[in-house]
Amino acid sequence: MAGRIPDQFIDDLLARIDIVDVIDAHLPLRKAGREFQALCPFHGEKTPSFTVSREKQFYHCFGCGAHGTAVGFLMQYRNLEFPEAIEELAQMVGVEVPREGGAPARSSDTRELYGVLERARAHFEQQLRQASSRERAVAYFKGRGVSGEIARRFHLGYAPEGWRNLYEALNAAGIDDTRLERSGLVIKRERGGYYDRFRERVMFPIHDRRGRVIGFGGRVIGEGEPKYLNSPETEVFHKGRELYGLHEAISGGKPSSLLVVEGYMDVIALAQHGLGNAVATLGTAVTGEHLDLLFRHAPEVVFCFDGDAAGRRAAWKALETALPRMAGDRQVRFAFLPEGHDPDTAVREFGPEGLLRESRRFGLSEYLVDALKQQIDLTTADGRTRLVAQAGNYLRQIPDEAHRVTGARLLASLAQIDEDLVREQLGFRARRRPRAHVAPLARFTRRTLEEQAVAMLLQRPELAAGIDAETAHALAALDTTALLLAVQAQASGGLGTAALLERFRGTPHESTVLELAAADLNIDPEALETELRDAVSRLARKAEDREIQRIRAIPFAELTAEQKDKLRNYRRPVAE
Ligand code: UTP
Ligand code: MN
Repeated sequence: MAGRIPDQFIDDLLARIDIVDVIDAHLPLRKAGREFQALCPFHGEKTPSFTVSREKQFYHCFGCGAHGTAVGFLMQYRNLEFPEAIEELAQMVGVEVPREGGAPARSSDTRELYGVLERARAHFEQQLRQASSRERAVAYFKGRGVSGEIARRFHLGYAPEGWRNLYEALNAAGIDDTRLERSGLVIKRERGGYYDRFRERVMFPIHDRRGRVIGFGGRVIGEGEPKYLNSPETEVFHKGRELYGLHEAISGGKPSSLLVVEGYMDVIALAQHGLGNAVATLGTAVTGEHLDLLFRHAPEVVFCFDGDAAGRRAAWKALETALPRMAGDRQVRFAFLPEGHDPDTAVREFGPEGLLRESRRFGLSEYLVDALKQQIDLTTADGRTRLVAQAGNYLRQIPDEAHRVTGARLLASLAQIDEDLVREQLGFRARRRPRAHVAPLARFTRRTLEEQAVAMLLQRPELAAGIDAETAHALAALDTTALLLAVQAQASGGLGTAALLERFRGTPHESTVLELAAADLNIDPEALETELRDAVSRLARKAEDREIQRIRAIPFAELTAEQKDKLRNYRRPVAE
């Protein structure tokens, strides 16, 4: 495993790059006053509200609220993982990414492994075109209605019969046994030597979302066991984390929804019928990592399962995995195909629109309630109460209030129980009266003092220099870890907004600090320093009050001299 990238390196890197150059390389920016603008790439718009600040090294869209640093931009726009984004920025300035513990960023070993797998893909593709025994494979794909174009798009291939075709081809290309073994493509014999894992099968290369080959699935031609054979888990192939077809589904831009199916051939058939947004798990159930990956690429995920018992079991598992992930604009839907169909046969029979039309479709909470009510008699009051209690156990796992409320509303209508009553039973907040539109200014003034202070510090980090160590220490008594960290990170040496924000990546404060960094402070820049000083001193007083309360709760005999001092010197603030 590669070690962590040191914070210091990220700080230095962010100081060397300019977010304006990074974004401009992907999305031409126009200068507008002190900032730069473009049409937002993250939502459709006609007048630019996507703004990049060179000063803060931060972007923000006033239309859709997207915001972040250069690292965040690359992650969001190019679908990169954090280390990949760092790697990319490092390449721009021509430096190597160091790792704690000395391991290099992506060992050249792993890079070689991708090379081996890509060669294998080329080999299998070539076999489909040239091998003397290719007729069966070609006929098989033809018989299943796969066009040449789709075969090329998914790099479909063929592993002919024989024990050492691939082994010998790659060996001749100078790839040694150890590397071949690590790729999962060959198997070691007990008495020495190697043989090909995939023989006499049509081949489906599996790509990661960036399009690198990470493994293969191979299907028997016709009947046979096992029907599908997959690469084993390797350094680069993790079934619980990858989705077949994701690279192809996202390479044309951000889809509005992703369709999750079970099989390779389902993905292929759907793509052939114009549904290019289908992905498949690799013979495993849907994991939380899959869902996180899916939501990173589309706001809506539709699970398409067979209508049989196995399909319902898979759907229930997907539902349980999805509940704790429902937030913001994320949506999960279910579509159960007509009896006896899988997406491959259904799309051929009903066409791309007919596929969903012919299916039984549910929203997330709709499916939850529907599945639960199968075992409950809803004609009795007792049954309805039981349904509410059971559904409540699941709905409570939804972190986002809006999604929870939708669930409660649906539950109320299905169980014919008053919505307020349902909410009360589930421990949700009562219905709020409709609120008038809240202006941005009002929104800011509703922020807590802590949040305002953090926002000011994030936006003008140099001002933290004015906070003395003692005050910073006092602030530690407050529950605002973010504030303390902001102050500390700053004290540790001249970081800019972007570098500060990167310090919070992966912490529970990440989304809060990003939001605060983008918040409209609505304070005259000239007055910011005074405002911050005022906020900090009020917070320090608040911290002192808490500390005194804590000390007063300690029996006098147990107080330390320092604590007694504090009590003696404590003066109640004039008025809050
Ligand atoms: P299915 O058996 O439902 O396959 O397996 P399918 O896609 O309809 O296959 P065709 O239409 O007969 O070609 C669905 C998925 O489960 C995994 C594969 O990922 C397959 O695509 N699977 C299935 C295996 O890994 N091994 C198997 O033996 C069978
Ligand atoms: Mn099938």
